[in-house]
Amino acid sequence: MCGIVGYIGKREAYPIIIKGLQRLEYRGYDSAGVALLNGELNVYKKKGKVADLHNFAKEKDLSSSIGIGHTRWATHGEPNDTNAHPHISMGGKLAMIHNGIIENYAALKTDLVSKGYSFQSETDSEVFINFVEDIYLNTKVDLAEAVRLALNKVVGAYAIAIVSLEDPNLLIAARKGSPLVVGLGKDEFFLASDATPIIEYTNEVVYLDDQEIAIIKDNNLTIKNIEDVEMKPYVQTVDIELEAIEKGGYDHFMIKEIFEQPKSVGDCLRGRLNAKEGHLHLGGIHDYTNKILNADRILILACGTSWHAGLVAEYIFEEFCRIPVEVEYASEFRYRNPIVGEKDIVIAISQSGETADTLAAIELAKSKGATILGVCNVVGSSIPRATHAGSYTHAGPEIGVASTKAFTAQISVLTMMALMIAQKKGTLSESKFRSLLVELESIPDKIAKCLDLNPQIEIISEKFKDATNFLYLGRGYNFPVALEGALKLKEISYIHAEGYPAAEMKHGPIALIDENMPVVFIGTKDSSYEKIVSNIQEVKARKGEVIAIVTEGDTEITEIADHIIEVPHAHEALMPLVSVIPLQLLSYHIAVMRGCNVDQPRNLAKSVTVE
Ligand code: G6P
Repeated sequence: MCGIVGYIGKREAYPIIIKGLQRLEYRGYDSAGVALLNGELNVYKKKGKVADLHNFAKEKDLSSSIGIGHTRWATHGEPNDTNAHPHISMGGKLAMIHNGIIENYAALKTDLVSKGYSFQSETDSEVFINFVEDIYLNTKVDLAEAVRLALNKVVGAYAIAIVSLEDPNLLIAARKGSPLVVGLGKDEFFLASDATPIIEYTNEVVYLDDQEIAIIKDNNLTIKNIEDVEMKPYVQTVDIELEAIEKGGYDHFMIKEIFEQPKSVGDCLRGRLNAKEGHLHLGGIHDYTNKILNADRILILACGTSWHAGLVAEYIFEEFCRIPVEVEYASEFRYRNPIVGEKDIVIAISQSGETADTLAAIELAKSKGATILGVCNVVGSSIPRATHAGSYTHAGPEIGVASTKAFTAQISVLTMMALMIAQKKGTLSESKFRSLLVELESIPDKIAKCLDLNPQIEIISEKFKDATNFLYLGRGYNFPVALEGALKLKEISYIHAEGYPAAEMKHGPIALIDENMPVVFIGTKDSSYEKIVSNIQEVKARKGEVIAIVTEGDTEITEIADHIIEVPHAHEALMPLVSVIPLQLLSYHIAVMRGCNVDQPRNLAKSVTVE
């Protein structure tokens, strides 16, 4: 949450910073600001989007070859101009941007107030920069050392960047729990919450580790940890293409990412799966195969859409591998006293690789001796670095806040993991294994066929755009899809939607059904098909309006439902990869028709680095 950008070099900093903030807007968008140095410390900040900041700033003095910028997702203090970052120290010489939460800010603030400090904003961040200033002014240390001393006293999570009016050749950054990347150019350095604002200028980056401080001074980068030990920067090459982070002719990132799914799932399978040769190999977890084969249990930890992918995986692993699986919200797991042992395998699923609750849950499970595997999309992010091993989803950058292509890529990886283990364990016959590989390899084409339904789904969306409630029902493998369909709709269209196992409807939600309640059934041909036909009858008997996702050639549901969306046939274990596509499109079109900002829905952020 919150996006950070910084620049120091020979170019004009402002255009680089503002463009970078636009790339990071998925991390938060309630206010934005920049600080620039050119003999003066100029800070411009504004409530609203980065575009609002740009409109406000464009008439101002923007010349500077050093600066920091921030796009905010509010934690302490409402979104307004004053609470927006950067924050300036009381002495007026230091400016800071911050992503995260300083948990002990109240105690620090009390102490600072007793020393005569006063504060403009309600933020924890302003407390921190004054704390740094206080140390800096009252000790004989340089600014970087003052920052290091201050960080040693801070409880909480942070990614920070600081500039000082006293030294325009100095940029200081640090991280703990929130991501930060330093880009290395020729006589210039970039700073950002992820690599996307940087790749236009350089593909050489250093990902800071927790509790590391980057000091860029006089064209030199020094990294030290907060214990004052100098660290050797580990330079990596990022291979993100610029087109991957641009809309490329689409109206929104979300629809671009929905349409990318034949490719993203294909990329995820490529090099790992060869159905013709009956070959399946996930190099990242290969060394842990025996541990998984001997596992007592698989524990899946995730949040949001990734948690839904975990639910699909639960069904797949239990069916094919015969290993008990539990799926937990990371946020719940981390705050109870879970029973975890050395023979447990934890699979942590995360698109961003930065979700604070998932990271903390991993640390807890690790401390109890479990083996941790990651299924993440963002290469080099915190979760893959905190796990013992894992497999990337290779879906490419996902920028729309509502997750789409990450979900299908996560299920693809998890399915490959399960099939690989099942084959080695002997819980799946060779012929079944091979036929599932063929099925899995055909999924990108089936997704492409679902995308052809887009015009039809747009027409259906028109009919339901003014609904105030929606119910999504599915059984078996399609139950997590119902949850995901409901989540997509509520997060981007603000229509209240609930997902339920279809059979549970009669234990409550059925009371809500009347002619004003649209009900989306995922009723593809599988082992619970007949049961779902009965559930549809129950809804129709109460005058509910039914939109049904069915398998091509369906006759029974087609007779009774009001609207039919036909998707290609797939093995039931793989059906979520197909049946979710129309639900993504339905939520997208409804949200657009309601005039919602689908890529940046209110109150949400894509990377949730606070708990
Ligand atoms: C946020 C995002 C969701 C995402 C969830 C988990 O809520 O808006 O799209 O599913 O976080 O994020 P992760 O990056 O861990 O998958």
